[in-house]
Order: sequence, then C-alpha cells, then structure tokens
Amino acid sequence: MGKVIKAFIFDLDGVITDTAELHYRAWQKMADDEGYFFNREVNERLRGVSRRASLEIILDGKVIPEEKMLALMEKKNNDYKTLLETITSDDILPGMYDLLIELRARGIKIALASASRNAVPILRKLGIYDMFDAIGDGNSVVRAKPEPDVFVHAAGQLRIAVEDSLVVEDAEAGVKGAVDCGMMSIGIGPDERVGAADIVYPEPGDINLESVIDYYKA
Ligand code: BG6
Ligand code: MG
Repeated sequence: MGKVIKAFIFDLDGVITDTAELHYRAWQKMADDEGYFFNREVNERLRGVSRRASLEIILDGKVIPEEKMLALMEKKNNDYKTLLETITSDDILPGMYDLLIELRARGIKIALASASRNAVPILRKLGIYDMFDAIGDGNSVVRAKPEPDVFVHAAGQLRIAVEDSLVVEDAEAGVKGAVDCGMMSIGIGPDERVGAADIVYPEPGDINLESVIDYYKA
C-alpha cells in the first residue's frame, strides 16, 4: 500500500475510556423513571450514536412532544455528568496511555473525534487533554456519525489529509464514517460490529503500533 500514517484520530467512548457504561446507567435510569423499555441489549445500539438519536432508539417509534424530548435529554445528561465526576486517570483503558506516548514519540499527530458534547471535560478528568493536537466533538459538527464530518473536521484542524489519517473506533457508525471519507481505520470489538475497518482488534489495548504501521507500509 505504501501508506504513511500521519495522524491517529480516536473515538472516545469505548476506545480511550469506558464511559459507555456510564451512558448506559444514565439512560437506564431515565427509561425506568419514564416507564420505557430499555436494557443492555438495546444499549448496544446506542454505541457512537448522538444523544438525540439515542433517545429516539429508546422511544422505539413513540412520539413525544419536543419539550419532553429536550427535558429527557437534559435529565439523562445531568445524571451522566454526575456519574462522570468519579472519573480519574485510572479510567483510561489499558494500553491507551502508552499508545498516546508512543504516537507522540514518533511524531504522529493525535486527535479526538467523538460524538459526545462532554468529550473535553472527560479528557481533562482523564488527565490527557494536553496530549491531543485537535479535538472534534459533539459541538464541532452538525451531522453526527455515521456521517464522516467529525473525522474530516479533526483532520482539517490538524492540517493533515484524510487519506493520511487513521481512525480508531468501536462503533459501527464510526467505522462507516471513517471508511466513507477515505481514512485508514482500526475497529475495536467484534467483527459483526466493526468488521468494515481495515484492521480489527478485540480491545484497544491490543493495538500494536508497529504492526499497524507495517500493515499500511506493505
Ligand atoms: C458517543 C457515545 O461518544 O457520544 C454515545 O458513544 C453518546 O453513547 C454520544 O450518546 C453523545 O454523548 P453526549 O455526552 O453528548 O450525550
Ligand atoms: Mg465509541
């Protein structure tokens, strides 16, 4: 392929930290309080999906007034933010801090591309905000994943071409966005979910930078 990776663009939830569990608990509380059906299986479908789209999935076709939608999203987000207060650098997923250090040492740029509007405070609480050269989050673009906008935004901030950028994603929607805009891609999780990525690893800590570089160089 003869490709050189100039930037790593990371998803946040499920890649750098496991906030997916906290999102789940906050949505479960909202659903229980409102009497909506929700469980971990439904929660799987919320991976990488925006706050509003997540609520629509939980509503499962039920139509409620816009004011109520907004109130439920705000309530979930407040509960989620309370859960986030407990986060520390211990919540960085295994291997990810070392990977960031390795990338910096090699001069490869680092960016975030998350659907979350809480991404910046989360990176600060994890103590790794300063390691990122660019941030794309839920406030940066209008069209959420699976559209590629947040990835293109992140690469643009880095001034690096999309084809020289590699995305690390745990969500089907995120992998689709990355592939659709011509970026290299690593999927984290089962093939059924992220098999469209160039390279798939079960866990973020399994990423082997040397072999990823060799894969694209070959
Ligand atoms: C994504 C998560 O990163 O961000 C989703 O995977 C979440 O589960 C989305 O819904 C939006 O996050 P937030 O923090 O803006 O509600
Ligand atoms: Mg994710």
